[in-house]
Amino acid sequence: MKNKTIKWGIIGCGKIANKFATDLATIENTEFFAVASRSQENADEFAQKFNAKNAYNSYEALAKDIEVDAIYIATPHSFHKEHAILCLQNKKAVLCEKPFAMNLQEVEEMIAIAKANNTLLMEALWTYFLPHYKYVLEIVKNEKFGKLNKLEADFGFYTPYNTDSRVFKKEVGGGSLLDIGIYPIFAALSALGTPTKINANATFFKNGADSSCSMIFDYKNAKAYLKSTLLEETKTEAIFTFSDAKIIINSRFHEPSTVTIIKDNKEEIIDFNYKTIGYNFETAHFNQLLRDDKKESNIMTFEFSKKLMRTLDDVRKIIGLEY
Ligand SMILES: NC(=O)c1ccc[n+]([C@@H]2O[C@H](COP(=O)([O-])OP(=O)(O)OC[C@H]3O[C@@H](n4cnc5c(N)ncnc54)[C@H](OP(=O)(O)O)[C@@H]3O)[C@@H](O)[C@H]2O)c1
Repeated sequence: MKNKTIKWGIIGCGKIANKFATDLATIENTEFFAVASRSQENADEFAQKFNAKNAYNSYEALAKDIEVDAIYIATPHSFHKEHAILCLQNKKAVLCEKPFAMNLQEVEEMIAIAKANNTLLMEALWTYFLPHYKYVLEIVKNEKFGKLNKLEADFGFYTPYNTDSRVFKKEVGGGSLLDIGIYPIFAALSALGTPTKINANATFFKNGADSSCSMIFDYKNAKAYLKSTLLEETKTEAIFTFSDAKIIINSRFHEPSTVTIIKDNKEEIIDFNYKTIGYNFETAHFNQLLRDDKKESNIMTFEFSKKLMRTLDDVRKIIGLEY
């Protein structure tokens, strides 16, 4: 089973599905086997573009394809739970886009169904698997530059308000926090753990989706300053201040990037020589979990996904954002 070819299916033919399929082609012993869209035309076009064997006009048909081993869910947030459960009940291993679902209750339901079906489930928080991010986390863990006492992380871009786009549509989980605020929050939780106190404030579009959210997480000996916004371009970097040095994950920190280490007035830039968009790292990990017959990731654990969602829920409560 060491080199077993994993046959993948993809649900939803949107933007991220295109990037995921592009990187899938770069992974050894991996086959893009089938795709499902709400429209047969889109499924056919996507299958042709990326060389998949089967193209379905129903997500259920893909979940029932007996040859498929793993399914990547690339639909808007509010459908993640329903689509993950559909696949898990058909015994398909599920890699589901972030945010894992809309709230903690949904995440717990998904995990319970994965366990009841003895089937692998993982949240596709790709940053956790990127070499530059792992490199920085290792420095945090081994305290190479002393204690981490401050983290600043932001994610912001501007696109005109348009409720045809899922990014702004409140019914499908639109707004800055769940879509991009999840990354600065992920940075804080992965580097510093669960905060002792959260402060947050937000601005809103007229439909009630949040247009920006600023957060301060308090820790016993550290603070994290986090921000997401759909109103302006921001640097989208993560700055880790240690007692003996500063590390900047350069723009954009959540995707393949470089790392700058500033110590004793000297700067060193580390280039990780990425050759792909970056989605192959999480997928290769997932493939290995499947080959090893694992039902949960040892990196993106259920506990971590729950912690991430619990924090998003807590922030939403503070800013008054309900879905
Ligand atoms: N990891 C990352 O870097 C990253 C980046 C971007 C997005 N994401 C996540 O991926 C998910 C999808 O984002 P995206 O940017 O790819 O969105 P998108 O371009 O709008 O694509 C979403 C796809 O979902 C399907 N869908 C099913 N029901 C839908 C509905 N009622 N309304 C709209 N689409 C529906 C559609 O595919 P069919 O019509 O073919 O069925 C659509 O093309 C989001 O949860 C987002 O957070 C992750």
